[in-house]
Amino acid sequence: AKARKISANIGAHYVDNARILPWRSSPGGNLPDPYHVWLSEVMLQQTTVGAVKSYFEKFTRRWPTVQDLARAEEADVLAAWAGLGYYARARNLYKCALYVTEKMDGIFPQKESELLLLPGVGAYTAAAIAAIAFGERAVVVDANIERLVARLFAIDTPLPKGKAEIRSAMDAITPDHAAGDFAQACMDLGATICTSKGPKCGICPVQKQCAAFAGGEMERYPVKPPK
Ligand code: ADE
Repeated sequence: AKARKISANIGAHYVDNARILPWRSSPGGNLPDPYHVWLSEVMLQQTTVGAVKSYFEKFTRRWPTVQDLARAEEADVLAAWAGLGYYARARNLYKCALYVTEKMDGIFPQKESELLLLPGVGAYTAAAIAAIAFGERAVVVDANIERLVARLFAIDTPLPKGKAEIRSAMDAITPDHAAGDFAQACMDLGATICTSKGPKCGICPVQKQCAAFAGGEMERYPVKPPK
C-alpha cells in the first residue's frame, strides 16, 4: 500500500542521489565504522552537515579509533571541538570514548537499547547508530524526518504532541532491510527537497504519495503549537 510505495521510492531515489559524506558508506554498501557513525551523529546533533565535515575529517585524522580518542587529553579534544559549539557534547564525547574503551574493550554496543546507555547518546542518536552502523531496524526521527513524515501523512496534531504520530508513521515506512540507508535517505530528502521553505515537490520521489502536496499545503507541516 502507500507505506510500501513510499519506502520503495525513497530507497530507489537514494541509490542515485545520496549525498557523499565522509562518515557514510555508499548506498547498499558495507556498514560504515561505528566510531565514525557515532562521532558524526554527536557532531550533527546541533550543527549542520556543512559545518561538521571538516571537523569530522580533523578528528578522524588525529584520532583514527575510539581508543585513540580515549587516550587523548580531554583539553585537546575540547580544543579541537572549538567552533562546533555546545561544549557539553565534547565533554560527553570524551566520556563516552573512555567508557567504550575501558568498559567495552573499545567495541561499541550494537543494540539501540544498549547505545542509549552511553554518555551523550540520546534517543535519536541511539536509533541512528543502531540503524546506520549495525543495520538494526530502528526508527530514526530527526527534525528533517519529522517534517518529511508530517507532510507525507498530513499529520495535523501540533508538535510536540504530534511527535508520537510522526514516529509511528516513520515506523510504518521503515523497511526491514537497510534501515540505516533509509533513515539517511529521509534525512537527505528533508535537507535538500522537502525543505521547510519552498520545498522542491517537482523533483520529489514521493510527490504522488504526499498528502500535504495533494492538499497544496506543504508549508503548513509540521504543525507548530499555537503561540
Ligand atoms: N544529520 C544527522 N545525521 C545525518 C546523517 N547521517 N546524514 C545526513 N544528515 C544527518
